Amino acid sequence: MKKIYKITILWGTDGFGKWLAEYILEHFSRYISELTITGRNEKKLEQVAMEFHTKPHLNSSPQGENEGTRNCKIIFTTDNIEAVQNADIVIYSVPISKTQQVIEETLPYIKTSAIVSDVTSIKGFSSRAMSVRDDIIVIPTHPMFGPYIQGIAGQVIVLTPEIYIKTSKEYLFLRNFLLQEKAKVVEVSSQEHDRIIAVVQWLTHLNMFVIWETMKRLNFHIGESLNFVSPIYKLMISSVGRYLGQNPELYADIQMYNEEVIEVHEAFLETAKNFHTSVSMKDKKKFIADVEEARGFIWKKYCDEGQVYTDKLIYMLSRQQEILKNNIWNKIELQNIYSWEKINWVLEKHDNGKIFLKSGEIYTIDEYEVREKWNIF
Ligand SMILES: NC(=O)c1ccc[n+]([C@@H]2O[C@H](COP(=O)([O-])OP(=O)(O)OC[C@H]3O[C@@H](n4cnc5c(N)ncnc54)[C@H](OP(=O)(O)O)[C@@H]3O)[C@@H](O)[C@H]2O)c1
Repeated sequence: MKKIYKITILWGTDGFGKWLAEYILEHFSRYISELTITGRNEKKLEQVAMEFHTKPHLNSSPQGENEGTRNCKIIFTTDNIEAVQNADIVIYSVPISKTQQVIEETLPYIKTSAIVSDVTSIKGFSSRAMSVRDDIIVIPTHPMFGPYIQGIAGQVIVLTPEIYIKTSKEYLFLRNFLLQEKAKVVEVSSQEHDRIIAVVQWLTHLNMFVIWETMKRLNFHIGESLNFVSPIYKLMISSVGRYLGQNPELYADIQMYNEEVIEVHEAFLETAKNFHTSVSMKDKKKFIADVEEARGFIWKKYCDEGQVYTDKLIYMLSRQQEILKNNIWNKIELQNIYSWEKINWVLEKHDNGKIFLKSGEIYTIDEYEVREKWNIF
C-alpha cells in the first residue's frame, strides 16, 4: 500500500505524546511516510531518538532522521511551526496549561484538509481553540488511560467531534480502528465530556488526595496498617499511591482548566461535613438514613456490581497465592506484567511478597502473573 501520511506529534519527548508516537509506529507505520516528534529540548530529543532506535520494533535511527526497515522517516525537532506545515495529521499532546498557547501558535500554519487532533484531558477549551479553522478536520480525543499500557483493548477513549465530522471518512477510519482494537469508544460533546469528567476524574482525585493527606496529618503508619487489613484496603491504598505517584501538574491542570469542577468540589465538602456532623453528634439514625439514601433504589445495582467486581479481583489475587502454595518444588511460569517476558523455573519458596526460584533469582509477586506448569518431580 502507498505510504501517504505525514504525522506530527507536539510534544512527543515524554508522557502521552511519546507513548502515542510508539503506538503509531507500531500500528500505522505502513500508512506513514514521515513521523515528526517535537520537543522543547535538543538533548532530550536526541535521547528519545536513541531510545527509539534501540527498540527493534520501532526502527528509527540514532540521528533521529532515517528510513528504517519499516520505511518510515522519523524526524525529531524543536520547531513546532515547521513540524506542522507539511503534516497531513497533527496531534497535540501538550500539558493542559500550555495547550491553548501551542494550538494558537501553530494552527495557522497547518495545511488545508489536514486532520487535527489532541489528547487533552479537558475538552472544552482545546476543542474551541482547534475549531477556529473550518478548512481542517478536527477530531478531539481524550484517551482515559496513562502512557503505561501495552495495548488499548478494554481502554476507554472519548471522542468529542462536531456532528458534521462524524460522517467524514477520516473520523470513521479512526473510530473503526479503535473498535477493532477493542477499545471502548465513547462519543459525546466536549461540554458533556467536561461535565462528566469533573466527577469521574476530579472527584476521584480529590478523594485520593484527601485520604493520603489525612493519613499524613494523623501520622498514620501505612506500612504497619497493611499487615492486618483486607485486600480491599490494600487495593484502596494502592490506588491512592498510584494517583499520588503521578505528575501533580497534570492533576492541578485537570482541576483548574475544567469550568465544571467547582460545583463538584463544593458538593464533596458539604457531604464530608454532613457525615462529620452526624458522627460528632452521635446521630446514628441520620447517619444510616444518609447511607441508605446514598445507596438508593437505582444505585443499589452499582453496589451489587462493585461487590462482584472487587470479589473477582480478590479471587484473582488469592488464586496467585494458591498456585504458589501448591507448587513448591514444581516448575512455574512467571510473566512480567510490563514487558510480558516469561520465566520458567522451579519454585523454591514464596514469602512476604517475594518469589524465590531454585535458580537463586528472586521476583516480586506484584510484578508477575504466576502460572502453573508441570510437575517435574
Ligand atoms: N499522562 C496521562 O496520564 C494522560 C492521559 C491522557 C491524556 N493526557 C493528556 O496528554 C497531554 C500531555 O500530558 P502529559 O502527562 O503527557 O505531559 P508531560 O509528560 O508533562 O509532557 C509531555 C510533553 O510536553 C513537554 N513539556 C512539558 N512542559 C513543557 C513546557 N513548559 N514547555 C515545553 N514543553 C513542555 C514535555 O517535554 P520534556 O520531555 O522536555 O519534559 C513532553 O514532551 C495533556 O493534554 C494531558 O491532558 C495525559
